[in-house]
Amino acid sequence: MEARPMRVLVTGGSGLLGKAIEHVVALEAGKLEGEQWIFLSSKDANLTDLGQTRAVFEKYRPTHVIHLAAKVGGLYLHMRENLWGSRDNLKINDNVLQTAHETGVTKVVSCLSSCIFPDKTTYPINETMIHDGPPHDSNFGYSHAKRMIDVQNRAYFQQYGHHYTAVIPTNVFGPYDNFNTENGHVLSALINKTYTAQKEGTPLTVCGSGAPRRQFVYSLDLGRLIIWALREYEEISPIILSVGEDDEVSIKEAVDMIAEALNFEGQMNYDTTMSDGQMKKTASNAKLRSYRPDFTFTPLKEAIKMTCDWFITNYDKART
Ligand SMILES: NC(=O)c1ccc[n+]([C@@H]2O[C@H](COP(=O)([O-])OP(=O)(O)OC[C@H]3O[C@@H](n4cnc5c(N)ncnc54)[C@H](OP(=O)(O)O)[C@@H]3O)[C@@H](O)[C@H]2O)c1
Repeated sequence: MEARPMRVLVTGGSGLLGKAIEHVVALEAGKLEGEQWIFLSSKDANLTDLGQTRAVFEKYRPTHVIHLAAKVGGLYLHMRENLWGSRDNLKINDNVLQTAHETGVTKVVSCLSSCIFPDKTTYPINETMIHDGPPHDSNFGYSHAKRMIDVQNRAYFQQYGHHYTAVIPTNVFGPYDNFNTENGHVLSALINKTYTAQKEGTPLTVCGSGAPRRQFVYSLDLGRLIIWALREYEEISPIILSVGEDDEVSIKEAVDMIAEALNFEGQMNYDTTMSDGQMKKTASNAKLRSYRPDFTFTPLKEAIKMTCDWFITNYDKART
C-alpha cells in the first residue's frame, strides 16, 4: 500500500524555530507534493490544557508532529521561574505526546535542549549523557521537564512501538527570536541592546564576564535539520543538532561580531556582578555528522549579520 502524504502539525509554530521551519517548508521546497503543514501558536490551543490539546489534534488529524511548544526563555527568565518552567513544560509535553498516541500519530519529533545536560560532566557532552547527573541550578525546572520527554519517548516505544524521538539543539538564534533584553536568549538580547546603544550613543553593558562559551546555531539551519529528522531519523534516542566543538565561541567573541554587524563602535562594559550561567556545555555533533557529513552550517558571522538586518527591518513587529 502506498504511504499517504504527511500531514504535519508543528506545535510552537509561531516561535523562533517554528518560523524557521515554516520558511524552509514554504521557500526552500521543504514540502513534498500532497503534504500539509500546520503551524500552531498558543492562540490555536493552550497545550497546558488537555481538552484544548485534544481539540486541536481532532481538528487537524496530523500523521506527524514536530513538537516545539515550550515555556522557554533566556538564563534570567529560567532562573526566576523554575516552577513554571517545570510545571508548564511537563503539562505541555505530556498532553502532546499522549494525544499524539491517542490519535494515531505515526511520528513525533520533540525538541530538547543542550542546557538540560548534567552540570558536572566531561566534555564534549553526547546524547548518552542526558540523565547522568543534575542539570545546572539556573534552569533545573525546565531541564527536568525536558528530560522527561526522552523518558516518555522510550516508554511509548516500549509499550506501543511508537516512533517518538527528540532532537537536541544547542543555542539557537535568528529571525523571529525573542529580542527582549531581560527574557530573551543571549545573542538576540545582545543584538537588541547593541542596537539601542548604537541608536542612543550610550555604552553597551553586557551581563556577565563574556567568558562563557556557546555553540550557536542559526535557526534556518536547524529548521532544515529538523525536517530531515522528521523524514529520515529512525532512532528513538535523541540526536544533537549543532555546529561542531571547534565552532564554539565566547560570549565576548559573539558580542564583537554583533558590534561589527551593527557598526557599533561605542564603549563596551562587562557587568561581572551578573550571573554567567554555565561556563560551557560543549556538545558533540559526531552523531549528526555520521548521518549528515555533508551538511553545511551558515558561518556564525554571516548568520549574525542576517539576524541583525532582520531585526532592524522588522523592529516594529519583533519581540522586544
Ligand atoms: N531558542 C533556543 O536557543 C533553543 C535551544 C534549544 C532548544 N530549544 C527548544 O526549541 C523549541 C522552540 O523554541 P523557540 O526558541 O522557537 O521558542 P519561542 O520562540 O519562545 O517559541 C515558543 C513557542 O511555543 C509556543 N507556546 C508557548 N507556550 C505555549 C502553550 N502553553 N501552548 C501552546 N503553545 C505554546 C509559543 O506560542 P505563542 O507564540 O503563541 O506564544 C511559541 O510558538 C522549544 O522546545 C525549546 O525548548 C530552543
